[in-house]
Amino acid sequence: TEMTAWLRELPKAELHLHIEGTLEPALMFALAERNGVTLPYESVEAVRAAYDFDDLPSFLTLYYQGMGVLHTRENFFDLAMAYFDRAREDGVAHVELSFDPQAHRVRGVPLEAPFEGLLAACREAESRHGISSALIMSFLRDRDPAEAMEVLEQAAPWHASIAAVGLDSAERDHPPGRFAEVFARARAMGIPGVAHAGEEGPAAYIREALETLDVCRIDHGVRCLEDADLVATLRERRIPLTVCPLSNVKLKVTPTLAEHPLPALRDAGLNVTLNSDDPAYFGGGMLDNHVACHEAFGWTRNDFLAMTRNALEAAFMAEERRDVLL
Ligand code: HPA
Ligand code: ZN
Repeated sequence: TEMTAWLRELPKAELHLHIEGTLEPALMFALAERNGVTLPYESVEAVRAAYDFDDLPSFLTLYYQGMGVLHTRENFFDLAMAYFDRAREDGVAHVELSFDPQAHRVRGVPLEAPFEGLLAACREAESRHGISSALIMSFLRDRDPAEAMEVLEQAAPWHASIAAVGLDSAERDHPPGRFAEVFARARAMGIPGVAHAGEEGPAAYIREALETLDVCRIDHGVRCLEDADLVATLRERRIPLTVCPLSNVKLKVTPTLAEHPLPALRDAGLNVTLNSDDPAYFGGGMLDNHVACHEAFGWTRNDFLAMTRNALEAAFMAEERRDVLL
């Protein structure tokens, strides 16, 4: 439709994207073969059929299993370039790729593989597609904070290439405060923080992430509406929420998109952005998420322009680049 064409042309910024969550089944099979990894699936169709999730943990099991085919820096490069090629088709102008070094380290993959592979892909995306990007090194909240601290120290050769540290994985019973020291250490090095909070976990985790981690953005954050004082704080501080509509439906954070709290978040005056999270698992990239919101909420061009502006203002981006895109 005309609206879809317009949404594709809109130069969008994607702030919440797990690069391991962009691994399409066909590439998963190709890399499994290349690396001698046995997958518990017969075919690409069987992989797709398995993507029927009840909640965040049931997704994470397949997400960590899927990324097991990533071994070398070339594998990470191929993964990211396949994503950038699709992002270009979606009209994405800027991407902040999050990755989970601990999930690779436990498999014996050294930090240099994701770092060097992803950074090379980011440079290639700039020259091939004119897409700007930034790297977010995320920590797994369901693992020991001491391990996160160790990874932060081991990442020293790449500190200048890290736009921010993040916090993801299973949220329930894994409050953000445990990572206060890690985020403080990163901040002391000049690296800001973002954190997933209020996706499956309570609104209290959003407040805790702001207060104990001093994060400048909240990933998801949709459950903030359960706490009116928190909503006021988020509004007054204009904290960006990187909301992922199709992800929230797939992981049953909301029963349907029509019932998604996005319109309520915007009505509350919050700084909302639209993102795809794990597009290979959740049924669509940036354009699909935008089109779905147009269909579910009847949002118009001005609504999408406002949210794209929110994302560009919240992005870890050189000012000259922001001036071009805004
Ligand atoms: N939530 C938490 N952790 C994640 C996600 C998510 O949606 N995707 C990848 N890791
Ligand atoms: Zn996420």
